[in-house]
Amino acid sequence: MKRLVSGVKPTGEVHLGNYVGAMRRFVTLAGQYESFVFLADYHALTTVRDAALLKKQTRELAAAYLAVGLDPKKTVLFRQSDVPEHAELAWILNCVTPMPTLQRAHAFKDAAAKKKEINVGIFDYPVLMAADILMYRAVVVPVGKDQVQHVEIAREIAKRFHTEFGAEVFTLPEPLIEKGTETVPGIDGQKMSKSYGNVIPLFASAEETKKRVMRITTDSRAPAEPKDKKDTLYALHKVFSSAAAMKKVDAAYDNGGLGYKELKELLADEINAQLSDIRARYDDLIADPKKLDKVLADGGECARAEAQKMMKTVREAVGLQ
Ligand code: TRP
Repeated sequence: MKRLVSGVKPTGEVHLGNYVGAMRRFVTLAGQYESFVFLADYHALTTVRDAALLKKQTRELAAAYLAVGLDPKKTVLFRQSDVPEHAELAWILNCVTPMPTLQRAHAFKDAAAKKKEINVGIFDYPVLMAADILMYRAVVVPVGKDQVQHVEIAREIAKRFHTEFGAEVFTLPEPLIEKGTETVPGIDGQKMSKSYGNVIPLFASAEETKKRVMRITTDSRAPAEPKDKKDTLYALHKVFSSAAAMKKVDAAYDNGGLGYKELKELLADEINAQLSDIRARYDDLIADPKKLDKVLADGGECARAEAQKMMKTVREAVGLQ
């Protein structure tokens, strides 16, 4: 099987958009590739300034991936910082990465355009990401569109290394871009995103989920009127509702007969029903820290053994003892 590597940053509560757009996909891909998935806590450190919070969010994200069905027997799930070789490789790669390559990176350009204070970690983010990918000879890197450039930078860095040191130690990775996955709108109709404050959390209680759903923006049509299928509420029904519920929803949108209040209640019920197993598994994992720690320790050990093999080759290639 070809190898897959992907990192996820533990920087916030996971929401339905993350679940539908990315998390579910790792479970499917684990059957097709030899998968390494890690919690990118070194990357999170470019922005997070609260040690307890970083630890908490890292464990919660691990539990989230296990809860949605990632099987640690099929996927090596680990904390990036449990494999400090990532940082060592990033340093070595820094030494073959031209400054202009990083100055061209979208994420850096956006931050610079906003005149944000930028630390060297943010500037160097793509190099650490290249280290993550090249470390495991990944062929495939599943990423969202916003991360494609980073995978291209990883290829570029690998090629530079090969020419400058005359040693072909890395595998050139390809991005695997999600096609056809639904984009989930947030409760205000924009893309669901933490930064817009419009999310429905994946692991909220049923009541909290309902509260958020009731706040979905709608127009002022009366219950008897037909409704616009281009609205946010309909889009969310399409993603989460069962075929049976969808029949009712379609009828109400086409012919009227249900108000937004009822349609929202129905959506909340459908989301809660669909996620109840995942949420129960998550609660169990959070309640049993030893089990979670064991999974992460095992994953870390397995990943580290791979990383140490790679570092031996790399150190030899560059002349470190
Ligand atoms: N930069 C990625 C993101 O923000 C996270 C990430 C870090 C990653 N290292 C990676 C993704 C390596 C794929 C491969 O989503």
